[in-house]
Amino acid sequence: MSAADIGGLQTFPAELQDRAAWLEPFEWYAEMRERAPVRYDPDRRTWDVFRYDHVKEILANDDGRFSTSPRNIDGFEEPPEDEGFLLDTMLLQDPPRHDELRSVVDDAFEPRAIRELEPRIRTLTSELLDEALAGADGELDLVDAIAYPLPVIVIADLLGIPREDRDRFKRWSDTIVRGADSGVDPESFVEEQRQAGQEMAMYFLQQLEDRRQNPKDDLLTTIATAEGEGGKLSHREALGMCMLLLIAGNITTTHLITNAVRCFDAHDGDLFDSLADGARELTSAIEEVLRYRAPVQAMTRVPLEDVEIGGETLEAGDGVVVWLGSANRDERQFANADSFVPGRSPNSHLGFGHGRHYCLGAPLARLEANVVLDELTDRISAVEVADADLTPVRSSFIYGVESLPIRFENS
Ligand code: HEM
Repeated sequence: MSAADIGGLQTFPAELQDRAAWLEPFEWYAEMRERAPVRYDPDRRTWDVFRYDHVKEILANDDGRFSTSPRNIDGFEEPPEDEGFLLDTMLLQDPPRHDELRSVVDDAFEPRAIRELEPRIRTLTSELLDEALAGADGELDLVDAIAYPLPVIVIADLLGIPREDRDRFKRWSDTIVRGADSGVDPESFVEEQRQAGQEMAMYFLQQLEDRRQNPKDDLLTTIATAEGEGGKLSHREALGMCMLLLIAGNITTTHLITNAVRCFDAHDGDLFDSLADGARELTSAIEEVLRYRAPVQAMTRVPLEDVEIGGETLEAGDGVVVWLGSANRDERQFANADSFVPGRSPNSHLGFGHGRHYCLGAPLARLEANVVLDELTDRISAVEVADADLTPVRSSFIYGVESLPIRFENS
């Protein structure tokens, strides 16, 4: 199972197959919120939910009627023993197991623990930007320069992965996150993903074994210990946890940074320059990016019993896609929902989800985005996205662009 196919569902509806449509899905969402806010798509055998209140109700899941585990979908086929590790992670498990799994790494992602990482993240950002700007001559690709490498390095550091192995991670996580609907020959695509998943699993197995013998001050040791003496994690769960943190912590943050630059560039006036002096304004502008161009547009759920939402009956075992990206543009919740309002307050967006599965890495993602954009606005000005012909990433739930060429002046 790939991350793109998380939840065992093919989340990409026909309406968004086209590259231009996936780059700007917001008009289609608006139409669906009015015309068919809860609709069944027979082609994907999946429900789509578009309005804020419905999406939030499903994510809140107060009465436990929705599961995140694809094992509850009618007709789900269990993958082979050495694949599908994400199935045994907190993301795709329900309580009580969800809570037990999350508690293993919760402390490491607490806001206070994350704040302590700021100096290290700032140094890393500075080094990456020094290097990228030195050879840039007024133009660079923000993905290559900073938005991709920084989150990989930060999560790899937290886990305790040696520096020399980072490139391998980029390759594995790129392959695993990519969507099956990306125009690649489906058979070779599945094979490529299977292989990347297995290579990554083998690698983590060795690292976990190493930490059991030689404990260090890193997350791999926390996970290895919980598997070993603590007995809190099974072998598959320990592996799944490593893979989830790497995948979830990586590409999503990349797209928060690049989506922010797209939003700032498109905003009236030179938002990039005016944000240069105000840390607080930057923080709320980043929240608005999480609403306006959320890096995760959709998540999946499965009803455990028949549930009525918006006058439709979602049956037990049906696949359900909740469109966070659409909920975030719902005029019933947000005034001027289709405008990017940097200081918007309150801003109860669903960009990090809601309820029990609310993003574990939200404090880290916010910190990384703040540091990168703070450093960027400090060092460069008159920023413009250089190429109008942007290519959306090939994933059915991750929202961002493959590369983001910009033109700028040095400050
Ligand atoms: C869960 C978005 C960064 C780790 C989620 C969910 C969303 C999300 C929407 C909810 C999934 C659901 O309800 O099914 C994002 C975005 C990010 C980001 C937009 C960056 C801008 C990170 C980072 C990490 C991380 C940096 C960790 C290193 C996780 C984990 C979960 C999760 C472990 C599962 C939590 C659970 O099931 O209890 N994320 N994420 N994320 N995220 Fe993030």
